[in-house]
Amino acid sequence: MVVVSAMELLLETPRLILREFVLEDWRAVHEYASDPEVTRYMTWGPNDEAASQHFVATVIVKGKEEPRTGYDLAITLRDKGTLIGGCGIYRRAFGEGEMGYCLHRSYWNQGYMTEAAGALLEWAFTCGGFHRIYAKCDPRNIGSARVMEKNGMKKEGRLRDHMFKDGKWSDALLYAILEDEWRELSGKGSK
Ligand SMILES: CC(C)(COP(=O)(O)OP(=O)(O)OC[C@H]1O[C@@H](n2cnc3c(N)ncnc32)[C@H](O)[C@@H]1OP(=O)(O)O)[C@@H](O)C(=O)NCCC(=O)NCCS
Repeated sequence: MVVVSAMELLLETPRLILREFVLEDWRAVHEYASDPEVTRYMTWGPNDEAASQHFVATVIVKGKEEPRTGYDLAITLRDKGTLIGGCGIYRRAFGEGEMGYCLHRSYWNQGYMTEAAGALLEWAFTCGGFHRIYAKCDPRNIGSARVMEKNGMKKEGRLRDHMFKDGKWSDALLYAILEDEWRELSGKGSK
């Protein structure tokens, strides 16, 4: 893991570099954010070009706020630099953060998001000052649930009619991991 500063995060994994977004990223973001298969279980999308541009511009501004509460990072391939998705952690309450992620369809089921989420959790518990990280997914989104499970997150329950999209309510599964659990699993010991 590499952390440049609280204002500029850079996380490295064996195959990925998670870096801050820049304005020029919007086209690569749009490639996955405009795909209805990708956004099926997201609260947003599919994006038009203006929405993808707005997303990138907004996360850049939010990333510069002090104190910083949103940590959105572009997921790029370490060897070629290709932007293949986005992920982030957002401060929701004292010591608590919510994690979210989204990947271009061409890169699904190759372990990339498990790797990216693992890097985010490591940063959150070793540098970010978080005590608890949670994430939610549609119960039909098996890939997302697996990403959380493979990172040691525990299912805490089912939130009924939690998400509203396209005129329909859907439930969400709530998963979370605590700092002590992460330290135990990762072998990083207690603080
Ligand atoms: C969900 C998502 C992030 C997963 O990313 P990914 O890089 O493909 O995930 P990984 O490859 O690390 O792990 C996916 C796991 O789910 C499994 N999986 C995926 N779809 C599955 C399905 N329909 N049935 C059973 N298992 C499935 C894979 O086999 C893999 O598990 P395994 O390693 O035990 O075999 C990606 O599909 C995505 O971006 N989807 C669209 C956006 C989205 O839904 N974001 C999350 C919102 S909560």
